[in-house]
Amino acid sequence: MATVRLDQKKRAIVRDIPSSYTKALARFFGTGPTNVDLARQQQLAYVHALEANGVAVHRLDADEAHPDCMFVEDQAVVVDGHMLLPTPGHPSRVAEQPPIADFLMQALEGVQTCTMGGEARMDGGDIIRLGNLFFVGRSSRTNDLGIVSLQSLLDFFGYELRVIDIPDHALHLTSICSTPTDTMVLVPEGYLSPSDFGQLPTGCELIWIPSEEAYGCNTIGLPNGKVMVAEGYPAVKKALHDRGLETIEIDMSEIRAADGSLTCCSIFY
Ligand code: GLY
Repeated sequence: MATVRLDQKKRAIVRDIPSSYTKALARFFGTGPTNVDLARQQQLAYVHALEANGVAVHRLDADEAHPDCMFVEDQAVVVDGHMLLPTPGHPSRVAEQPPIADFLMQALEGVQTCTMGGEARMDGGDIIRLGNLFFVGRSSRTNDLGIVSLQSLLDFFGYELRVIDIPDHALHLTSICSTPTDTMVLVPEGYLSPSDFGQLPTGCELIWIPSEEAYGCNTIGLPNGKVMVAEGYPAVKKALHDRGLETIEIDMSEIRAADGSLTCCSIFY
């Protein structure tokens, strides 16, 4: 989940991978998952990495009727203890939400929750946060009405929201972009341009990565300052190391096969 600051990443949920995972959507960089056991091993390593670095992880049961259910990021947007439950942008994923929403409503006692109505659509994977500045992708999953709902939530806090058009060959904003710290954005060349982001707050930086490592631009900054990265993206690792950040590599091959990235697999709350 890319909508909490580093210091808010104390707890996360993940969701177990169903045996039906081989039917998960894969229309962008994914080649289609084939090995459920391997995906489960990779998810376990992901959970262990979170736990070893200060994050308490709660695992929700898999839902066999929903092959994509492990990609929880899309289903709830948590901002400073408030929650937006979006209507996910792909029809096959809408019914994944209730157990995630129920858990978060109990865990976040007294949480103010808003939902979307009508034609509004949004995947949580289209949002990143850079301190008090938010970016949302207008994508095949997130439309203008969805963005209006997010704007209403952020207006409550006085946070700014900027809209970025996602190229047709990318799924979500987080598929090609992340904030490994509260002041850095990793972005691949050839997908987005500096004008998409506008003037960043003082002290913040866009870090450009060669386009062939676009997948590696999805990272998770952890509360102890380390950064989880996908295995096999040396330019991403070097950019982070050059800035004094320690990285933890996770083999994401079978999760990538279903168009999934590191942030897709958890919600911090
Ligand atoms: N397979 C993840 C998604 O398309 O939402």
